[in-house]
Amino acid sequence: MGILIIGANGQLGSDLVKVMKGEELIPLTHKDIEICDLEGTRKVLRRYKPDIVLNMAAYHKVDECEKNVSKSFEVNSLGVRNVALACREIGCSLLHMSTDYVFDGSKGRPYVETDLPCPINAYGISKLAGEYFVRYLLDRYWIVRSSGLYGIAGSSGKGGNFVELMLRLAREGRKIRVVDDQVLSPTYTVDLAHKIKQLIHTEHYGLYHITNAGECSWYQFACKVFALSGLSPHLKPTTTADFGAVATRPPYSVLDNAALRAIGLDDMRPWEEALAAYLEERKGK
Ligand SMILES: NC(=O)c1ccc[n+]([C@@H]2O[C@H](COP(=O)([O-])OP(=O)(O)OC[C@H]3O[C@@H](n4cnc5c(N)ncnc54)[C@H](OP(=O)(O)O)[C@@H]3O)[C@@H](O)[C@H]2O)c1
Repeated sequence: MGILIIGANGQLGSDLVKVMKGEELIPLTHKDIEICDLEGTRKVLRRYKPDIVLNMAAYHKVDECEKNVSKSFEVNSLGVRNVALACREIGCSLLHMSTDYVFDGSKGRPYVETDLPCPINAYGISKLAGEYFVRYLLDRYWIVRSSGLYGIAGSSGKGGNFVELMLRLAREGRKIRVVDDQVLSPTYTVDLAHKIKQLIHTEHYGLYHITNAGECSWYQFACKVFALSGLSPHLKPTTTADFGAVATRPPYSVLDNAALRAIGLDDMRPWEEALAAYLEERKGK
């Protein structure tokens, strides 16, 4: 079975390549495919004729998306439409990545797949539009929403991630302020990649939430990073209002892996264990 990965050198993409070793993989980077170009995307998919496409490409710098709304829609909505159209034309299925930021965070309890999305920033709106394109263009698709991703590719300069940012600030002896009023389920890309691998070998198509188990604020996440690393930097909690980021973010975007549980595949470990595994993995780098 031919599996074509778009964004194969990104955080999640590079772990997908690792966990799918042994499968018939076609790992493509941005140099090989530009999803904003419909004709180019068609040409690439026609050339390789995969059975499944995994689309990891996104423009996901949330504050930048607010200032560059047209690029957000070009990549996260129209680009996804191009990929879905090309998949439809060659008759292959698509696994597409989406985000917890399709929700406004007002529910106060974990979001299930049947909850109505209501994004509150340009990134979330553009990602939700991408989901809708996939849903209306294809029958055989998996849309996977996840949150707070961190993986080893982020530690090697490819975009970075929250854990790496915390460790760098601590190393530099900086005063660190982290918001304590935004709650999520941080997710290790290795765990997510294993679950995606399992899911695409089923015919359980549809919408899935996939995150590590449990929840924490970004501040609690930072505390755990430092505790597990034996560091005690100058860390203080702050509020979203005081932090003053450009984009509005949901105060509570914990996802419940309800659809995964329903098909007997939700064995995602607690986020604390996953974080410890990541910190071990990066020691070897
Ligand atoms: N990071 C998070 O915390 C998070 C949370 C929830 C959901 N997600 C979703 O999960 C997915 C993967 O995230 P990630 O952290 O692995 O992202 P990432 O590390 O930035 O990887 C994205 C990959 O896509 C490529 N790409 C970007 N624009 C492209 C385009 N127009 N055409 C073709 N390739 C393009 C990038 O290449 P270049 O870098 O060379 O452009 C990169 O290799 C995304 O859909 C994202 O929205 C992420």
